[in-house]
Amino acid sequence: MTNIFPLREVPKNVGELPKKMLAWCIRPDREGDPDTAMKLEEVDVPAVGPNEVLVLVMGAGVNFNGVWAARGKPVSVFRMHGEPMHIAGSDASGIVWKVGDQVKRWKAGDEVVIHCNQSCGQCPECNGLDPMACSEQKIWGYETSWGSFAQFTKVQAQQLLRKPKQLDWLSAASYGLTYFTAYRMLVHQAEVTAGDHVLIWGAAGGLGVFAVQICRMLGANPIAVVGGKDKMELVKSLGASALIDRNDYADLMYKPPETPERNKARMEACKKFGKRVRELTGGRDVDVVFEHVGQQTFPTSVFLAKKFGKIVICGATTGFNLEFDVRHLWMRQKQILGSHFANAYQAERANQLVHEGKIRPVLDQVFPFEQTAHAHALMAANKHKGKMGIAVQAAAARAGLPKADAA
Ligand SMILES: NC(=O)c1ccc[n+]([C@@H]2O[C@H](COP(=O)([O-])OP(=O)(O)OC[C@H]3O[C@@H](n4cnc5c(N)ncnc54)[C@H](OP(=O)(O)O)[C@@H]3O)[C@@H](O)[C@H]2O)c1
Repeated sequence: MTNIFPLREVPKNVGELPKKMLAWCIRPDREGDPDTAMKLEEVDVPAVGPNEVLVLVMGAGVNFNGVWAARGKPVSVFRMHGEPMHIAGSDASGIVWKVGDQVKRWKAGDEVVIHCNQSCGQCPECNGLDPMACSEQKIWGYETSWGSFAQFTKVQAQQLLRKPKQLDWLSAASYGLTYFTAYRMLVHQAEVTAGDHVLIWGAAGGLGVFAVQICRMLGANPIAVVGGKDKMELVKSLGASALIDRNDYADLMYKPPETPERNKARMEACKKFGKRVRELTGGRDVDVVFEHVGQQTFPTSVFLAKKFGKIVICGATTGFNLEFDVRHLWMRQKQILGSHFANAYQAERANQLVHEGKIRPVLDQVFPFEQTAHAHALMAANKHKGKMGIAVQAAAARAGLPKADAA
């Protein structure tokens, strides 16, 4: 038996298993910045259960949950899964390498992308309501270990989706988590329809690049907010109807504690920002606000949504404790909708749109496996656009790596 596979190549014998693999591990005693918390180690290749699949990771996608996992904040991942180490990574493309004895829909050699929702598959919620409501629901590679920053990853068979043939391995690894999340938020939770105006915070970020495309595909008008003129070209190319640079509104962000003077300045900035939004919509307030920034933007989001409008939220990068003037919510009968990833059916439907070329991945930068921690540090510092990909067994890539991989 081979001891460890070399990186950046696909072994000839599909199904042949080494004893060990390379993996980026976080350990309980070194939680902190990604650069120091994540270390490349040799670990045992995990065994698969009856309904599980071992996938040879070709490409892995970087997500903000890797930053949360490294920091151990707001919650340590070790409290969630109790394993002695955490391999982060909730996005991957790869080749099915070994299947459990109950797996019928997939076989060794299949080329796949992976969605990141795990659930028990047996409870009434999984079988009638929504697997996202399962009491055992977990995000693979965040609330579970054995994520994608390793040569092999262990997943439930229901997490597999067909890899779109037209995509290279790293593009295929880059979209699942954020795209499927944005899809559920806009299509299922906010029920965006043609003609709606949708304000999208962080439109050049991982969620935002898909939110813009989904709105455009649905016939809605995506109003894209970005932090810097350099991000505008990308967002425009994805179909944004209007663009706003949040840096033009210096006092807009809510940063508690707030003095009365600071509160006054922020409210003025908020009204000025709202005026600009209405200029861009032909005088209308926005039907939906797409939220994930959290504390700093949430009061503005509640203020800006139209009467009976919706604020749909899946995250809070700038802080989880949200404060806002609730009068704007009840007097104008707005709704706040929580949303979290997507179920397998939604992921499958959304993936089909990628197969059909109606939604495209936005892979901004690609790194070799050895720079996984560095890519997370860039994300923590908001020094990225769209998505970042990591070449694991793919010989990829662009951006300084030897060779583009169209395999
Ligand atoms: N619940 C779920 O299923 C789920 C799924 C995916 C992501 N999330 C969460 O959602 C958040 C965003 O994820 P992502 O992948 O889109 O991250 P990302 O790629 O880092 O993008 C986030 C964007 O937010 C913007 N931003 C940062 N600080 C801001 C501020 N003060 N005001 C306005 N915008 C600000 C930045 O854009 P500009 O600087 O250009 O404005 C950045 O591009 C993370 O907290 C993540 O954990 C949750």
